[in-house]
Amino acid sequence: MMTKKKFIKVAIDSPAAAGAGTLAKNISKHYKLLYLDTGKIYRMIALIKINQKKNFNKKFLEKKIKNLNLKSLQNKKLLTDEVGAEASLIAKDRNIRKLVHSFQINCAYRAPKRFNGSCLDGRDITYKIIPDADFKFFVTASLKVRAKRRFNELKKLKNNISYSEVLKSIKKRDKSDYNRRISPLKKTEDSILINTSNLSKRSCFLKIKKIIDKKIYN
Ligand code: C5P
Repeated sequence: MMTKKKFIKVAIDSPAAAGAGTLAKNISKHYKLLYLDTGKIYRMIALIKINQKKNFNKKFLEKKIKNLNLKSLQNKKLLTDEVGAEASLIAKDRNIRKLVHSFQINCAYRAPKRFNGSCLDGRDITYKIIPDADFKFFVTASLKVRAKRRFNELKKLKNNISYSEVLKSIKKRDKSDYNRRISPLKKTEDSILINTSNLSKRSCFLKIKKIIDKKIYN
């Protein structure tokens, strides 16, 4: 039970495979927050582009985005490396970012009453989507640790992919996400750095919980 603040907003930015998703899910579950993995939105658009290349235009996309809901983002096909790589490309498009902006704002600021707030993770959450978040985190890990984690995830999905391919793909994605002109990945000054390289999932969660509890219960 939260005492002082009724609605808390948690914003997390992170490079690919840093463990932000698991962390955000655990935080959301613990504090009863609406969780949105914003990367899934770009992945969904990427999947549409891969599967329906011929129809892929602004009008078609607008219609798809209108029907966007949290359930539609649970599709397992969104998890492949191919979709992730394409997502990183389409995420550079200013018009596509505009189309998905209000969906993210709705989740962040207008979560249904059964939630105590919201928790979003992505690349531009701390400074563009929820600049006034109560808690801002930049979650990262070394390149090798991230590649290993993503490799293990993809192996579970029975993806026929090697570690070196995954490493290469993550490097490419970092380059693109950090250096693009529109909504680049960055750590804002007011974000707390969480390096998950040598931490278990539980330790990461406890670290963040301590920070949140200190602010909301004191
Ligand atoms: O987080 P995930 O790896 O699923 O994101 C896929 C891609 O979507 C990222 O590489 C990034 O280019 C893009 N993305 C973004 N802004 C966000 C979330 C994801 O540009 N808020």
